[in-house]
Amino acid sequence: MSEHQITLTTRDGHEVTFSCGDSFDVVSAGEQAAILLPSLCRDGGCGACVGHCAEGEYTLGEHNAGVLSEAAVSGRDVLLCRTYPQSDLKITAPYDYAHIHFGHCEARNAVITGLKTIADRTVRIRLSWQDEEGGKAVEFEPGQCMELEIPDTGIRRAYSLANTGNWRGELEFLIRLQPEGRFSGYLSRGAEVGQILKVYGPSGAFGLQSDSLNPAVFIAGGTGLAPFLSMLRRLAEWGEDRSIHLLFGVNRESELFYIDELDRLKQQLPGLSVTLCVWKPEPDWSGFSGTPAEALQHYLQDHPGDYDIYLCGPPLLVTAATQVALARGIAEQRIFSEKFG
Ligand code: FES
Repeated sequence: MSEHQITLTTRDGHEVTFSCGDSFDVVSAGEQAAILLPSLCRDGGCGACVGHCAEGEYTLGEHNAGVLSEAAVSGRDVLLCRTYPQSDLKITAPYDYAHIHFGHCEARNAVITGLKTIADRTVRIRLSWQDEEGGKAVEFEPGQCMELEIPDTGIRRAYSLANTGNWRGELEFLIRLQPEGRFSGYLSRGAEVGQILKVYGPSGAFGLQSDSLNPAVFIAGGTGLAPFLSMLRRLAEWGEDRSIHLLFGVNRESELFYIDELDRLKQQLPGLSVTLCVWKPEPDWSGFSGTPAEALQHYLQDHPGDYDIYLCGPPLLVTAATQVALARGIAEQRIFSEKFG
């Protein structure tokens, strides 16, 4: 096996180097070198690890065309979790140096303290650290995720945290039940309060940009609301009142959740406004009828200006809303997204 040198340049201009064998992908090689690069699915499905390869030869493994189009592939954009080097590589990463974690991935045991269906096909799971070894505190930046391991399988899935860092050792996740999903199957059939799960992380580079005073628009599809809840709850804790418009969309009204919590946050954050979007509503629906991408189109038309756009949800929604924002003149570097599904 040949070893190749990977030189990664972060968005804020730092260089990180490590070696990668040609049968390894770049994210796994980083992990072996105790350099944890932000990633989610590790399977070419979410787009959390899109980078650009400026120099070198590589093969790109199978991936979801919705997160990396053929044009992007021809332009040498890569998914780091699906990039296998054939020579030394120079790659630019989509995140800052602070988002790379140096050290081995921390795993801790947590006990399930709450398990509740909060809407059609949506489950909230609450956990609390079981061991006191690392102290009780849960530390992460709003927008980050952690990986949960299905007991006795070694299978891990990454989910965004919906709460904020705290001293009580509590973690909260919102999970959409997928018909064929392994973790969904575990939640529907095997999970119960009192069980112990292994939790890895935090990881991920999605989060509020501190370098901007622009008003923000948050666009959430389904459980893509989780990282935004974390950000809004943190802003409420800090008493920071940014101007934020949240567009929260689902397919049917029965899939809506946390409406009371959003009302509570609006009371605490006078700069927060919310539009609920339902794609296929009942006749008496009084909110927006359509997708959050369509709602964004209306919002930017009625309120022109410079915005930071944050997107989290299924790839199709993220792509559609990104196109709307670009067409309305929002600069590409002011659009921040996390795809899942
Ligand atoms: S982590 Fe690479 S595409 Fe999801």
